[in-house]
Amino acid sequence: MNFASDNVYGIHPRILAAIEAANKGTSASYGYDDYSKRAEEKLSQLFEKEVRAFLVTSGTAANGLALSALAPSYGAVLTHAEAHAAVDECNSPEMFTGGAKIIGLHGVEGKITPAVVEKTLKGFIRSEHDPKPAALSITNSTELGRVYTPSEIKALSAVAKSRKMKFHTDGARFANAVASLGVKPAEITWKAGIDVMSFGGTKNGGMLLEAVIFFDTALAEDFLYRRMRGGQLVSKSRYLGAQMLAYLEGDLWLENARQANGLAKRLVEGLKASNRIRMPLPSDANEIFAVMPKKLHDKLQAAGVHYHDWMPDTLGPKGIAENEIFVRFVLSYATPPEEVERFIGLVKDLVSA
Ligand SMILES: Cc1ncc(COP(=O)(O)O)c(C=O)c1O
Repeated sequence: MNFASDNVYGIHPRILAAIEAANKGTSASYGYDDYSKRAEEKLSQLFEKEVRAFLVTSGTAANGLALSALAPSYGAVLTHAEAHAAVDECNSPEMFTGGAKIIGLHGVEGKITPAVVEKTLKGFIRSEHDPKPAALSITNSTELGRVYTPSEIKALSAVAKSRKMKFHTDGARFANAVASLGVKPAEITWKAGIDVMSFGGTKNGGMLLEAVIFFDTALAEDFLYRRMRGGQLVSKSRYLGAQMLAYLEGDLWLENARQANGLAKRLVEGLKASNRIRMPLPSDANEIFAVMPKKLHDKLQAAGVHYHDWMPDTLGPKGIAENEIFVRFVLSYATPPEEVERFIGLVKDLVSA
C-alpha cells in the first residue's frame, strides 16, 4: 500500500503507447518536431487562448525557468512559506533567476492572501534597499491539498497588478485543482490574472511531462534561450510532445485527476470512520493531511504502509499532541481502489484490536 506520493506510480498506458507510437522513423529535434508543435496548439485549445508552451522535463525546472522570465536578479518572488519553489527545489528558482529572492509568506492551508501580500509589500519591501517586488507565485492545488478558487486568484491578481508584479502558478497538481473545482482551465489561470504557469503532468500519468505555459505571450520572448541555457531543451523532443498529446487526448488529464480525487474522498471517509484519525485540513484534491496516534502509525509502518510524515508546524498554534503524528497521504489515478479499501480495513482492525 503506497500513499507516499502521486509519483510513485508509473506511466499511464495511453501515454506509454504514445511514446511507443512516436518511436518510429526520424523526426525534427530540439522542439521543432510535429508532436511538440501540435502539443502547443492543443494547449491553446485547452486554455481557450493562444499560448506559448515550452515542454520541459521536471516541475522544478518549469518553476525556475518560469520565474526567471518574471523576476530579475534583484527582484522578489512572493509565495507561500511551504511552496515547493520556496523550500523544496534546492534554490533552483534563485539559480534560474540569477539571484531573485524567494520570500515565503505565512497563510493557512498553503494559501497566501491579498492581505498578507499587501502587509509584506508595505512592511519591509519598500525601496531599493529591498528586493524589487517582481512576481507572486501560488501553487494550485496547494502543498496542503486545498485549492485556490477563481475569486481568490483574482483577488491576488489585483494586488499583483496594482504593484506591477507578474503572477505565476505552480500547477504540478493543476489537473486535481480543475477536477476539484469543476471549472474550465482558463478560469483559474489567465482569466483570473495568471501570466505564466508550470503545467504538471508527471504526477498524473506522464513520464517526463511538464510545460511552462505563457498566457502573456510577450513574456515568452527570450524563453527559447532560457530553456536552452537551463539544459531543458531536449533533443529528442518528440517524446515530450507525444506525451502531452496523449495526456490531453480525450481529457485523459482530467479523467486521471478525477479518479485520484475520488479515491482521496473515499479514503478521507474511511479514515474518519475509524474515530482515531482526524483531518485538520479539508482535502480538496488528491492529498490528505491527517493526525493519528503514534502507536497507530507504528503499527501501520510495521504493516508496510507507505506515506510521509509532515511538519506539524503547518497546523499553527493548535499543533498536535505529544503522542500524535502529522502525516500526508497522496492518491494517484493508478492507486488500486482495492488498496484504499484494504488500508481502511487495516486501520479499522488495528483500532479495534
Ligand atoms: C507543488 C509541486 N511543485 C513542483 C514540484 C516539482 O516537480 P519535480 O519533482 O518534477 O521537479 C513538485 C514535486 O513534488 C510539487 O509537489
